[in-house]
Amino acid sequence: MTGQTPAEMLARLTDAEKVSLTAGADAWTTRAVDRVGVPAVRVGDGPHGVRRPQEGSALSMFDSHPATCFPTASALGSSWDPALVREVGIALGREAAGHGIGVLLGPGVNLKRTPVGGRNFEYFSEDPHLSSRIGAAWVGGVQSTGVGASLKHFAANNTEQRRYGIEAVVDERALRELYLASFEHIVVSERPATVMAAYNRLNGPHCTENAWLLNGVLRGEWGFEGVVVSDWGAAWDRTASVPAGNDLAMPGLGKGDDRYVQRALTSGRLPQKALDASVLRILELAARYGDVQGTSAPDLEAHHDLARRAAAAGTVLLKNDGVLPIATGSRVAVIGAMAEEPRFQGAGSSHVVPTQVDTLLQALTEALGDSAVSYAPGYDRGHDRASAAQLAQARVAALAADVAVVVVGLPETFETEGVDREHLRLPASHDRLVETVRAANPRTVVVLQNGSPVELPWAASVPAIVEGYLGGQASGSAMADVLLGAAEPGGRLAETFPVRYDDHPVSVLPNGPATIEYRESLYVGYRWFDSAGEAVAFPFGHGLSYTSFSWSEATVTVGEGLDEVEVRVTVSNTGSRSGSDVVQVYVHDAESTLFRPEQELRAFEKVWLSPGESSEVVLRLDRRAFSAWDADAHAWVLEPGEFEVRVARSSRDIVRRATVVPGGARVDREPPDDREPPAHRDPLPYREPSRAVGFPATAFGKLLGRTRPGNTAARQGRFTLDTSIRDMQEARVGRILLRFATSRAIATLGAPAGAAADAVAGDVVSQFTFRMIPTVSGGLVGRRAARRLLAIVNVLARLDRSF
Ligand code: BGC
Repeated sequence: MTGQTPAEMLARLTDAEKVSLTAGADAWTTRAVDRVGVPAVRVGDGPHGVRRPQEGSALSMFDSHPATCFPTASALGSSWDPALVREVGIALGREAAGHGIGVLLGPGVNLKRTPVGGRNFEYFSEDPHLSSRIGAAWVGGVQSTGVGASLKHFAANNTEQRRYGIEAVVDERALRELYLASFEHIVVSERPATVMAAYNRLNGPHCTENAWLLNGVLRGEWGFEGVVVSDWGAAWDRTASVPAGNDLAMPGLGKGDDRYVQRALTSGRLPQKALDASVLRILELAARYGDVQGTSAPDLEAHHDLARRAAAAGTVLLKNDGVLPIATGSRVAVIGAMAEEPRFQGAGSSHVVPTQVDTLLQALTEALGDSAVSYAPGYDRGHDRASAAQLAQARVAALAADVAVVVVGLPETFETEGVDREHLRLPASHDRLVETVRAANPRTVVVLQNGSPVELPWAASVPAIVEGYLGGQASGSAMADVLLGAAEPGGRLAETFPVRYDDHPVSVLPNGPATIEYRESLYVGYRWFDSAGEAVAFPFGHGLSYTSFSWSEATVTVGEGLDEVEVRVTVSNTGSRSGSDVVQVYVHDAESTLFRPEQELRAFEKVWLSPGESSEVVLRLDRRAFSAWDADAHAWVLEPGEFEVRVARSSRDIVRRATVVPGGARVDREPPDDREPPAHRDPLPYREPSRAVGFPATAFGKLLGRTRPGNTAARQGRFTLDTSIRDMQEARVGRILLRFATSRAIATLGAPAGAAADAVAGDVVSQFTFRMIPTVSGGLVGRRAARRLLAIVNVLARLDRSF
């Protein structure tokens, strides 16, 4: 782009060139226009490592250039450490640049609405404040290296089930206060190069065709000036997506599709103004991020060390009755195949080929010596089964050791992009192993490798549980550091661990086939559990340290109109080891006329202290921290009355409280317990005897302010572009389609061998809709042909006698 401004280049482009720029050249690059000097931009996944496919295997998930695999987002979110996540972002940016990648496709900042979400490992938290602060650090780090970020998946993409066609039905308050909030902060504070529009529909249109979302909220309200790129295959028709604000359709759909868009331009169906606006933004992106060349080769050893530090920082010590850290000189039995063959990253588009992998077994053996460590696999790594001999071997190892470390978790087939889980259980063989080892040795430490919460039925009977999440390629050495006390477990839960899946507010809500109603509205995660006072296994924000801390009284200073509330608390390390503590500030609205969760996280700060050291932590809350979205006024409102500021170690461990009122006054007293609740303008959610949580249908309709869309399956033979293949299974043609598409997908994307993996591939593919055909066929089957195929499938389904 020598010497020309993007606006000058725009003026020189033909309409055909403009149209061509609004779609990818292939799966990973945008188009170049050599005549005018527009360079291509290379993009690449993903959030916790760079995935640059090897030449000739563009769509393979498993055949990419080696790159550092950092901890996945659930582990980074648990670090509560934006400075560290920024360092990870810088490392990712350097590796991306080294691969010529101008835009890195991350971070994912969707909320974990339900613990069964198949992509939860790729998201930071169930809370928008934490997600947005950690996500902002990631974006800031990456972009400081000259590589752009892609904030994804915008918006309300909280389920994998039927992800290509499902409509998320979300009331305005839940959208503004939760689902959009995690994007808003990052867009406003970090100005990411791109935002990725999600696959799903949101309150009607697909996100890629949602003018309210893209042109209205993102650009109009938040001032986003970058490029909106579609998720891969999510933009079906550029004549609808470009005017709605989705500039770039990825990947490319070929020349035929360009001709179709040009015809729409000529006929006026695609407004020239909309096209020019999108192209200008794409030219600006190309000017900044085209032809990226890393200045020097990234230091992969240093990145491995950073991955190790980050994994320890995100490791959450859930429980410790004095067994940890393991005393020097102990004989340790390491039990569980995941100690030798770890699960350290998620499955799907974020899959990275690591530069090296540390295992816990190897790291403990190196640290303690061969003779101090014994090992028993305890179960089959690839299948949920354990033989009597495996269990007996595990028992013998546990009996002979001072400490037994049992490593269990979710295998790849239990948790992947593309499929939601159906329960929160570990493989039965893993649970059985924990019980067996615990019976043999009371000094049992359970180490977890999983991307999202699991039920821990044996939690009360084991003395120590360590949540390692999917800690990246250095997770083994990081876990050894933590178990031996060389590093402290720095993590605090960024999500609630329910006792049982059935306790979770979202688990039993009406779902699919056409819509997902977010009936729980604001009552997501701890917002529900704390409002209901319901028991949890481990609360949001929880995590233990190897040292102890004391907190001073909190000083709370209130500025005029609550524009600034300052909370000061002095934290002292009263133990004998160095360690970190996280001060969390929640706000409780004592006198709201709107329904509000019991409390919401509004600020946090992590502090590191040596033994005997103290530090004053200062946290600031702005007006927004006390405000709610008023769905009638379509604006943030700060209601009069009292608020309680809660300084806490977790959402269930409140250490200090102060009551404040707008206007600068501070009331120095504990709030009375018997306060009359104010009259609510809206109905409150309830829990039915069936344990469903949420607003009943009529009340939810009122919250939505419109008629709830229908949620019935597409009738046999009336399938639409948004019907997933899984919903065609009653027809023979649907079953044939699934078999064919699954085998094609395995051949193209690559999949680890094995019947279980094939079954997962089938589950992933079953979410596909006909809208995805042009993308998955690489443009070979275009839009018109996809419609014709759908018509044929409908005819065959109607003729299907088996139905
Ligand atoms: C995923 C995105 C990813 C893209 C490119 C999509 O299926 O949803 O997160 O960036 O593929 O691999």
